[in-house]
Amino acid sequence: MFREIVSGATYRCLIDGQWRDGRVHPPIDVTSPCDGRVIGKIQALSKEEVDEAFAAAKAAQKKWAQTPVNHRAVLLHKAADLLEEHCDEIARILSEEIAKDIDSAVSEVQRTADFIRFTADEGKHMEGETVGADHFPGFKKQRFSVVTRVPLGVVLAIAPFNYPVNLSVSKIAPALMAGNSVILKPPTAGALSALYLAEVFRAAGLPAGVLNTVTGRGSEIGDYLVTHPDVDFISFTGSTAVGRRIASQAQMVPLLLELGGKDAAIILEDADLQDAAKNIVAGAYSYSGQRCTAVKRVLVMESVADELAALLKAHVDKLKVGLPSQPVQITPLINKQAADFVQELIDDAVEKGAQLLCGGRREGNLIYPTLFDRVTTDMRLAWEEPFGPVLPILRVQSVDEAIRIANDSEYGLQSAVFTKNIDRAFYVANNLEVGTVHINNKTERGPDHFPFLGVKASGMGTQGIRYSIEAMSRPKVVIINLGDERHE
Ligand code: NAP
Ligand code: G3P
Repeated sequence: MFREIVSGATYRCLIDGQWRDGRVHPPIDVTSPCDGRVIGKIQALSKEEVDEAFAAAKAAQKKWAQTPVNHRAVLLHKAADLLEEHCDEIARILSEEIAKDIDSAVSEVQRTADFIRFTADEGKHMEGETVGADHFPGFKKQRFSVVTRVPLGVVLAIAPFNYPVNLSVSKIAPALMAGNSVILKPPTAGALSALYLAEVFRAAGLPAGVLNTVTGRGSEIGDYLVTHPDVDFISFTGSTAVGRRIASQAQMVPLLLELGGKDAAIILEDADLQDAAKNIVAGAYSYSGQRCTAVKRVLVMESVADELAALLKAHVDKLKVGLPSQPVQITPLINKQAADFVQELIDDAVEKGAQLLCGGRREGNLIYPTLFDRVTTDMRLAWEEPFGPVLPILRVQSVDEAIRIANDSEYGLQSAVFTKNIDRAFYVANNLEVGTVHINNKTERGPDHFPFLGVKASGMGTQGIRYSIEAMSRPKVVIINLGDERHE
């Protein structure tokens, strides 16, 4: 099924239903984070070629919007079945290009098939409403409005490297169910599996032009994409820096931004520390900490800090380190820049007196799982998002101090609070300036139909299947004025 997509090692772009090579610029290498070898090449589209993709999307969207919702849903279910059928092949490519351990890569693809099916079914319940005028003073029953939901038009979907399949679909599927067409800009690191995903939708029968892919470095074509006159909505997941840049350029185009995070796990003195430690380590170190919702700081009451630190160390020491083809949790980070940045934060913490409990070692892009105790707020690691396998423990003297430090972050994605007292759990949750608070569980996005949002520097707008469909559609109001009620 996938023969059209690749010529040699070079992956093409899907434009107007055809897999095409770029005509102007040489392809870009996609290299392995583990050993730097080239595992594929992608097109670096020119502005003219980007224009062709938008023209196809704009033309196709009109007819797609008229496609009955149940037909859209049938097509999405077919895509989910095809994705599942090719799960092993797509997961292998995903694992190779972003160094995600193969088990997590397989679960990302399976989760994505479930996401598509849920979206197809949810989209069938996106109804409108009728509103009577006589509810308002001065109006009679003869006037009422019929409100339906209509698509916005062309959705620009930009996905990050760490979930190249799932976070592409978290935009594509809701956009399609709402009747939009899509321009997908996959991450350069992660593009190969994202392009396979586009082929799955094409092979499932998606009409030409409804889904198009544009590849090339975001730093080179990003601004042109974001300011393109044919963009009607932008759904972006990625760093806060790029999100801010997009927001500064988008003008009147509505946005959905899912950005960085510095999720705090707050541990009260009555917490089940064994359970908390297991959750925190799973939440902080899976996919080497390269998750926006990773636990990125522990704020623990001083009275239980020694016990928790020992439990955390015991779990971290058991983490498996290796290559993505093996059943491990810790693999090389996405590139040298990412590893250099994490190393900077580690060096700063050591220099300022943090207690290194384990890790602190590096081999190329591989950073060994690192845990610090007695991290203080003058250290960069207390505030910056490492996007790597390093976790700071900060000791606090009161619940309110924990809330203050948590809220002093520029980020506001998620937090977790561990306690046996539900009243205190809600006291903490109600005072945290974040999108989501988990009680007695690690921070995480799933399940994918839950609302998922960041506040402050963590984003704007709400993802989550129904919320995304709503964000990518709008009300259309038709007001009816019947004749006078006094019929002869
Ligand atoms: P990134 O560097 O911001 O890149 C994200 C996407 O934006 C990529 O497709 C990238 O293309 C593209 N891009 C880069 N510069 C652009 C520009 N000027 N205009 C338009 N698009 C541009 O982020 P990442 O490194 O892929 O992901 C890591 C970051 O994303 C972390 O901060 C993490 O917290 C955040 N993240 C947040 C969530 C969430 O749901 N809140 C989920 C995952 C990741 P290239 O790949 O070609 O550069
Ligand atoms: O960083 C990707 C973000 O969406 C996290 O997803 O499911 O790993 O919490 P999850």
